[in-house]
Amino acid sequence: MSTCRLVLDADFAIAPVERRLFGSFVEHMGRCVYTGVFEPGHGTATEEGFRQDVLDLTREMGVSVVRYPGGNFVSGYRWEDGVGPVEQRPERLDLAWRSLESNRFGLHEFLAWADQAQVEPMLAVNLGTRGVQEAADLVEYANHPGGTRLSDQRRANGAPDPFGVRLWCLGNEMDGPWQIGHKTAYEYGRLAAEAAKAMRRVDTSLELVACGSSNRGMATFASWESTVLEQTYDVVDYISLHAYYERAGSSLADYLASNLDMDAFIDEVVVTADHVAARLRSKKRIKLSFDEWNVWSMSRFPGETALEFDRHPRLIEEEYSVADAVVVGSFLISLIRHADRMGVACQAQLANIIAPIRTEPGGPAWRQTIFYPFAQASRLARGQALQVALDAPRHSTTAFDDVALVDCAATWDAETGALALFLVNRNETGGTVVDLDLRAFEGLRLAEHLVLADDDLSATNTAEAPDRVTPRAGTGAVLDGTSLQVALPPVSWTVLSLVRA
Ligand code: AHR
Repeated sequence: MSTCRLVLDADFAIAPVERRLFGSFVEHMGRCVYTGVFEPGHGTATEEGFRQDVLDLTREMGVSVVRYPGGNFVSGYRWEDGVGPVEQRPERLDLAWRSLESNRFGLHEFLAWADQAQVEPMLAVNLGTRGVQEAADLVEYANHPGGTRLSDQRRANGAPDPFGVRLWCLGNEMDGPWQIGHKTAYEYGRLAAEAAKAMRRVDTSLELVACGSSNRGMATFASWESTVLEQTYDVVDYISLHAYYERAGSSLADYLASNLDMDAFIDEVVVTADHVAARLRSKKRIKLSFDEWNVWSMSRFPGETALEFDRHPRLIEEEYSVADAVVVGSFLISLIRHADRMGVACQAQLANIIAPIRTEPGGPAWRQTIFYPFAQASRLARGQALQVALDAPRHSTTAFDDVALVDCAATWDAETGALALFLVNRNETGGTVVDLDLRAFEGLRLAEHLVLADDDLSATNTAEAPDRVTPRAGTGAVLDGTSLQVALPPVSWTVLSLVRA
């Protein structure tokens, strides 16, 4: 058994953890919408055609905000196609995923679904094939009370009250050559600034997200953010980050250390944004919207151009393992410890497409392994994120230097007196004992000790065996005053919740 030491103190707080850190993403892609969240005729379907089983799992997962309708899809999307009588909506080619789009699910359906799922909507406008006018029109349609053509159209379409959507993305991954309507940083920055200006004139309460880089490996990374923010600084609130990590082609040790890349990505975007602030002599600070993150075996995806036009095909329906869940847990740790700058984060996506929730058409819905760390972190990460002083054995992997054997984030809710710890053990060969010094946290008792681990790291949940991998109660944790000792199994995710005794 290896050992490590960890010190926590309520006085060393980072920042409050935003609820919006526990977001997800619904894109018109594959079976995320159709036969994912929306399946009229399904045994559990609501009168609107929403799968009740998926709604229930979304709520159980503690999803706070959902980004919609894309993703790459949004860059060729005409939002008008998705409103009005369903039988009059056009069938379209979706060029992002070479799919057939019926538009049976659109803006009203999504917002009604979000309402039932009890999540905040986050809408993206198309800045690929469209521009300032269409973006402002959509805000007017959605948020203006009435008395204009677009707002009255919304009312006629069954929504008398404005939807009041606050959070908007100015396009998607506009730095990516794969994107329909791909732009240079300057072209995008100018367009985003003008779209933001017009959208804000329609509704002054909007919070806007400018597109950052599609991933840290883009050749334009950092210069893209710098140029875009120089154009948009005063009219946006967030810059986006996207990142997907995969096991393929790397060792387990590398894979388990993936969140070091996420940490570095976040830190680099923060310094880039603050560098622009300095150049502009601005006191304003841009927040981060990590609005696509997850584990995705991207190298197995044949690419959009290899796809044949089809209606909601089975695309990238990843089956997640125990190891994947541990890595997802480490991403949640990274997001929580960056609470000072992290305003929004959306795991991509919610159902079927690289998702914590899987469904079968006409069949069941089930939780993938990665469902659990998300649900636990969303439920327990409350109050302030705390600095974690960690003294752990360190190692190097092929991709990363100086990797701690254990990673951890902690939160403290002073109001309820609840302390939560989220721990990942990267030790492949054995358990790790963690000695926690809880110092000022007197009078707490251990309320929950949950562990996700398995002798078979490749074990998954399937339609036939939906509960093959679930968290189990941990054993052997000893709390003595303000000292807590806990043993973490090899390659595992552990959650500890302490409350007032
Ligand atoms: O989430 C799947 C796709 O990944 C999104 O459409 C795109 O934004 C990203 O490249």
